[in-house]
Amino acid sequence: MVQAAGGLSCGKIDCYKANTDLDNKASLQRGVKLFVNYCMGCHSTKYMSYERMSTDLGLDKELVLKNLIFSDAKIGDYMTIAMPAEDAKVWFGTLPPDLSLVARSRGKDWLYTYMKTFYADDSRPFGVNNLAFSDVGMPHVFEELEGLKKAVFKIEEGADGSKVEVFDKFELLTEGSMSAAKYDQAVLDIVNYLDYTGEPAKLVRYSLGVKVILFLIILLIPAYLMKKAFWEDVH
Ligand code: HEC
Repeated sequence: MVQAAGGLSCGKIDCYKANTDLDNKASLQRGVKLFVNYCMGCHSTKYMSYERMSTDLGLDKELVLKNLIFSDAKIGDYMTIAMPAEDAKVWFGTLPPDLSLVARSRGKDWLYTYMKTFYADDSRPFGVNNLAFSDVGMPHVFEELEGLKKAVFKIEEGADGSKVEVFDKFELLTEGSMSAAKYDQAVLDIVNYLDYTGEPAKLVRYSLGVKVILFLIILLIPAYLMKKAFWEDVH
């Protein structure tokens, strides 16, 4: 479930690998639900409209209007938020960025690692820090689901003899409402969704790719028969 992705660095650790699947509509649907409920208080995905999202994800537009739109936004509107930038700066010290393209800029393994490595840190304004994003200005919004972890660090000697602090392991301080496996799936779903918003064309390309391969496989049969027929007369 949690493996290093070829040693790519995610801040203080090697990135975990996000085994997401853009073809998994159920996962994308769970992802957008989580995103709207837990993230859109602060983050927009302003290049994505509700309408496009519901069409791509196979969601009924009436249901989207009823269950996923909490503002007076209409189905054709982009998924923006109403938080004034000035307030955000005061509350978080920085603006929560738009997340439309974050899977492209950060990579999905980074996103997955980020969502799984919040840990208790009393020196921070929200009481948490993050292994992938040092001194992050975002609270651990999934704390009620995941629980709160403590990060244990150990001192190791670097190649040049200097002492460096490296992450050792997590210890659970308080339980969340989800099991570790369930939380892992929730994070995968939200990362999958953000991977989709980063490039909606991927979904189309994805199913087109499968069709092209199928076509080539089917084409192989007459091509093979033709080759056989062709060489029959030569021998
Ligand atoms: C209470 C407000 C708030 C909520 C809710 C929130 N975030 Fe954030 N988020 C922030 C702030 C503020 C930052 C900027 C942190 C910084 O720069 O130090 C941030 C940064 C991020 C980043 C890093 C972006 C980058 O490339 O620098 C990601 C990814 C992210 N949030 C994902 C999420 C997801 C996914 C959710 C929902 C599960 C979520 N956030 C919910 C406030 C929030």
